[in-house]
Amino acid sequence: MAETTRIAVTPGDGVGPEVVEEALRCLEVLRTKHNLALEWTRFPWPSHTWHQKHGESMPDDALDQLRHYDAILLGALGDPGPLDDPDRYLLSDSVSLAPLLEMRKGFDQWVCERPARLLPGARQYLADERAKDIDMLVIRENSEGEYVSQGGRLRKGTEDEVATQMEVFTRRATDRIIRYGFEQARARAAERVKEGRTRSFRSLDGNRDTQAFESQVCLVTKRNALRYWGDMYTEAFEEIRKEYADVAIHHELVDAACMKFVQNPWAFDVVVASNLQGDILTDLAAVLSGGMGVAPSCNLNPSDTGMPSMFEPTHGSAPDIAGQGLADPTAMLFTTARMLQWLGRKDPVMAAAGKELYSTVAADLKENAGKQRRTREIGEAICQQIAG
Ligand code: IPM
Ligand code: MN
Repeated sequence: MAETTRIAVTPGDGVGPEVVEEALRCLEVLRTKHNLALEWTRFPWPSHTWHQKHGESMPDDALDQLRHYDAILLGALGDPGPLDDPDRYLLSDSVSLAPLLEMRKGFDQWVCERPARLLPGARQYLADERAKDIDMLVIRENSEGEYVSQGGRLRKGTEDEVATQMEVFTRRATDRIIRYGFEQARARAAERVKEGRTRSFRSLDGNRDTQAFESQVCLVTKRNALRYWGDMYTEAFEEIRKEYADVAIHHELVDAACMKFVQNPWAFDVVVASNLQGDILTDLAAVLSGGMGVAPSCNLNPSDTGMPSMFEPTHGSAPDIAGQGLADPTAMLFTTARMLQWLGRKDPVMAAAGKELYSTVAADLKENAGKQRRTREIGEAICQQIAG
């Protein structure tokens, strides 16, 4: 029997515990059905509840504890809700969300992968019918850039106050994220071929009339204004693309990318962006593909198998509906499916279980398009489908 895969489950705040509960039910059904060597441990932290009791969101040795797991499944962090309770225990965003960034940094989860595919049954916000072809993967640099948290405030509280917020871009992190983007473009093209789907992209580098490509990587920067890292990203992109002659390339400035995500998002395949620009683009991409209720997210460390990767939906703690059993667990379940596929890189049974969960959630979405259902009801329907 394969070595046991261990997951640290951190439900967090607000709707986090509600959607995580459904993910665990589905995992339980999959574990029984496929005899998966999988186990999980729930952690009461990071969370507001823990902070209220202990004065910190998680224990000092939290990362040391989590390091021993193969993956972290996180619900949501932030305002615990409900919004209409004025006495609820609240923390500033920079405190409540800090554990997320600590995990990403502490485990060097240098890729944030956020797929945005408009699946049948998901809400279509764009009127254009071609929106049905939206199928992109936004890859966000997750280890540095605008999120290094370096800087400070000088002469705080005075009229002469100065705030500095540094951005750091290293060639090493640039190369690895761009190369990862090209690898994903290839892998996605191969997957499409298996499914009998094709797409066609052209390189916009002066050879417009030539070859059509199966896949594309679009690099996003703001190199017209932020030229130092913009130029370094561009040079790295030019260099690395030579290893991927089968993949079309493209570049967009981030403001134009926002415009084109709305005008013709179906023209994008893999998109590589910096930490902050990727953060913003992925909220937009989530809405283009059905909204936060269906948008998965993965924080991955592809280079060090000894470090856990972290899986969380793109959405937050949704304090407006917290505690009511109304949250849509679909994003959490898609995220869980991706976690199983990630954990199954060397275990075909685990990977197949991930695929099964993905297609069951997708089928449920299609069948129940637009229906108002409770968290439990959605989870239950999916569990029943899997159990057969
Ligand atoms: C996200 C969130 C986080 C981020 C916040 C909560 C720090 O917006 O995961 O996209 O900006 O990375
Ligand atoms: Mn975000």
